[in-house]
Amino acid sequence: MKKIIAIIMMMTLVLCLTACGGSENEGEAPSAAPESSASETAESPESSEDPAAGSQQNGADTLVVYFSATGTTKGVAEKIAKVEGADIYEIKAAQEYTDADLDWNDDSSRTTKEQNDPSARPEIGSDPVSLDGYSTIYIGYPIWWGEEPRIMDTFVESCDFDGKTMIPFCTSGGSGIGSSGDNLAENAESGTWLDGDRLDSGITEDELESWIEGLK
Ligand SMILES: Cc1cc2nc3c(=O)[nH]c(=O)nc-3n(C[C@H](O)[C@H](O)[C@H](O)COP(=O)(O)O)c2cc1C
Repeated sequence: MKKIIAIIMMMTLVLCLTACGGSENEGEAPSAAPESSASETAESPESSEDPAAGSQQNGADTLVVYFSATGTTKGVAEKIAKVEGADIYEIKAAQEYTDADLDWNDDSSRTTKEQNDPSARPEIGSDPVSLDGYSTIYIGYPIWWGEEPRIMDTFVESCDFDGKTMIPFCTSGGSGIGSSGDNLAENAESGTWLDGDRLDSGITEDELESWIEGLK
């Protein structure tokens, strides 16, 4: 009788070991996935630290490009980038605009002179952006004297937007986007340009989502 009990116990032990081994093997396949997705997650913050590279390291197919002299357009651009999960690139003037440059009451201020001269093309100081891989580009700027700042023309003339959907947006003291989007499209000579809009500096993420939905 003792022999029979011993045999049954040994068989139970063998069966148990086989079953545990099986479950270890099943566990190998899923454990590989979290490891690789963890390393992907680790790369994302690096790519978002260097948005000017525009090299699509986080897989975004949307880019938000903006110029902002006093920070208003920058704030709206950052909200769009957040809502869209987009990369972001700032157009910076090689020669930064001072308060005196921005004085619209002064007939001889830098901005008054630039805006009075449709051929003015202020130099860009930020590193060039690669547009490879982006299918949609939001392009934002403040309204100066009813139009886009001339540095926006410098930018669009330096890029090839073939195959890309371009969405202009602006901020202003109250003026609408006017013909600024059309001017940019004309000077760019490439890309499919949507009408675009003036966006309020206090626009909420929900309002931005509705605006974006309305563009489709
Ligand atoms: C030189 C200059 C001209 C401007 N012209 C206009 C204008 O024609 N209409 C308007 O509503 N706001 C005008 N503004 C106000 C700006 O469009 C507004 O403050 C904008 O939100 C600033 O954006 P930013 O902070 O990104 O530079 C002008 C501002 C400057 C500096």
